[in-house]
Amino acid sequence: MKDLHGKTAFITGGASGLGLSMARALGSAGVNVMLADIEQAALDRALEDLRARQIKAAGVLCNVAHRDQLRQGALKTIETFGKVHIVCNNAGVGAGGEFGTVPERDWDWIIDVNLKGVVYGMEVFVPLIKAHGEGGHCVNTASMAGMISPPGMEPYNATKFAVVAMSEGWNMQLAPAGIGVSVLCPGFVRTRIHESRRNRPADYGADPRANDDAINQGAGALVLSGIDPDAVGARVVEAIRDGELYIFTHPDMKALVELRFARILEGFDTAARSPALKGQGRDGLGDRLFAAAAGGQGEEAQSLILRGLQGKP
Ligand SMILES: NC(=O)c1ccc[n+]([C@@H]2O[C@H](COP(=O)([O-])OP(=O)(O)OC[C@H]3O[C@@H](n4cnc5c(N)ncnc54)[C@H](O)[C@@H]3O)[C@@H](O)[C@H]2O)c1
Repeated sequence: MKDLHGKTAFITGGASGLGLSMARALGSAGVNVMLADIEQAALDRALEDLRARQIKAAGVLCNVAHRDQLRQGALKTIETFGKVHIVCNNAGVGAGGEFGTVPERDWDWIIDVNLKGVVYGMEVFVPLIKAHGEGGHCVNTASMAGMISPPGMEPYNATKFAVVAMSEGWNMQLAPAGIGVSVLCPGFVRTRIHESRRNRPADYGADPRANDDAINQGAGALVLSGIDPDAVGARVVEAIRDGELYIFTHPDMKALVELRFARILEGFDTAARSPALKGQGRDGLGDRLFAAAAGGQGEEAQSLILRGLQGKP
């Protein structure tokens, strides 16, 4: 999406951190901004910040774990700015802990916000972008924790891997409609993510870790050692303009992804030597698919999978 001026963006978790940085960067590029957040006071402060920078901004109180609240947010965006072109599904929270100690309701909370919140954001906004036919772009915030899985962060990692996976598929599905999809995978950025429990809704019951979350305190030191959120906002604008699928902000973390991929590839080599798998034949589409993959034609193999799923082998 090259021409951003005069377009409108809806940004969840827009009152703080990365969401606010995207609002500043998009607003500075002439985009109207609708901030959506669960915390009214933070929303008010963020709007003041944006308006002081002459950015056209409005706000809506919205818990992304509830599809209806995103629908209300979409209606308010259309009422205020006429159309919506960009959606940043960015609201997210952190939770984790030693194996077997993560409270069940923390799993519910983090899946509702980090995973279902992104699904709802896409399902509410993409039809509105399709309807005006001017094209658009979706940015889903995952994390480097969607690329590698730091121990003790499994609930967070699981939701972020899911956001990467969904965004990869949606990128291919929505391209023909002129809608780009990116997945943002930052390393540590100086925000308030380590204080996520400030906005854990009462729906999830009393918070057993309200005053005692060693993991979140440890994470705090890492988060506060991170980069400036405004650099991430600026990177996101570059990526929207250039239609990038993966938005990385910490190129020095590539080595960690390489390490994971090397272990995955090693697993394939082990399978290739496995007596248990010797002599396995395949028919029809399977045979063409695996022949393409074995010949290093990854894109052909991918398009055969897509054709198979569409019932057009
Ligand atoms: N800061 C980092 O180091 C880092 C790294 C990788 C990914 N991320 C991701 O960036 C995104 C933004 O987080 P941040 O780092 O800016 O943290 P942050 O806590 O500063 O901002 C998150 C915002 O989301 C809002 N929010 C929380 N629950 C919500 C809900 N249910 N509905 C709507 N809004 C809600 C909060 O009120 C807050 O304004 C998250 O998805 C996070 O996982 C952060």
